[in-house]
Amino acid sequence: MLYSEKVLDHFSNPRNVGELSDANGVGEVGNAVCGDIMKMYLKIENGMIQDVKFKTFGCGAAIATSSMATELIKGKSLEDALKLSNQAVITALDGLPPAKIHCSVLAEQAVRAALADYYRRQGIDPEPIVGKL
Ligand code: FES
Ligand code: FES
Repeated sequence: MLYSEKVLDHFSNPRNVGELSDANGVGEVGNAVCGDIMKMYLKIENGMIQDVKFKTFGCGAAIATSSMATELIKGKSLEDALKLSNQAVITALDGLPPAKIHCSVLAEQAVRAALADYYRRQGIDPEPIVGKL
């Protein structure tokens, strides 16, 4: 089997799909390898990710990794969300085929882009916190 049960589950029933009208951090990133696009909406309150939604125009692995990434950061602190790595998402999905690893980078970058947008809106330079995007 090329894909784990968890990948197939998150692809067939992605969690947290959609938009957040009251998001205060929004990030959109594109994958240079394949051209796929992911948009991440965060609602942040008291230093916590209260809510998160995403829209992905991309392959099954991109949809499954964005779905899992939202599950991993929902209800977490900003510090924890900043630490989210594509490797952590892959592990939570019980692995991805090697050719699909680049897809998981999109989810990590979309979360970081949304966090950077949040800091910018607070008048805080995001680069020292989030790093280069
Ligand atoms: Fe875009 Fe994978 S190349 S769907
Ligand atoms: Fe484009 Fe998966 S092939 S993100």
